[in-house]
Amino acid sequence: MPLVFVLNGPNLNLLGLRQPEIYGHETLADVERDCRALADELGLAIAFHQSNHEGAIVDRIHEARNEAAAIVINPAAYTHTSVAILDALKAFDGPVIEVHISNVHQRESFRHHSYVSLRADGVIAGCGTEGYRLALRRVASLVAARTG
Ligand code: DQA
Repeated sequence: MPLVFVLNGPNLNLLGLRQPEIYGHETLADVERDCRALADELGLAIAFHQSNHEGAIVDRIHEARNEAAAIVINPAAYTHTSVAILDALKAFDGPVIEVHISNVHQRESFRHHSYVSLRADGVIAGCGTEGYRLALRRVASLVAARTG
């Protein structure tokens, strides 16, 4: 089964608790549970990670080079700052889908720019936590297209 890394950046461990008016009431554990259920249906395996540390996310992306068929990533605030995460993703060969729970384009102007989008094959924003599941569906078709 193709393995998909689902990577989450800083403060997403507080999902459901921080700014629920923006990010909703679901926790990251809820998101992981729903992703696993859908991955089963799609014939994908997933490895789900969250870190508040930029270097730890870079390390995971390096691991993905040997282990993962695709990456779904919500880089959170690092979206808008991290050339290191962009460079790591550029060293990964498979499909990359960027997810944002909120519609970043409706928010402060510093959230309108994403370094990660320079590498992402697709970007999903403003679909709430459903965005992760939409990303997995897209990954399933991209991985299937690659493997024929
Ligand atoms: C976010 C949007 C980012 O701007 C923010 O820093 C986050 C979460 C989102 O999922 O909407 O932490 O990536």
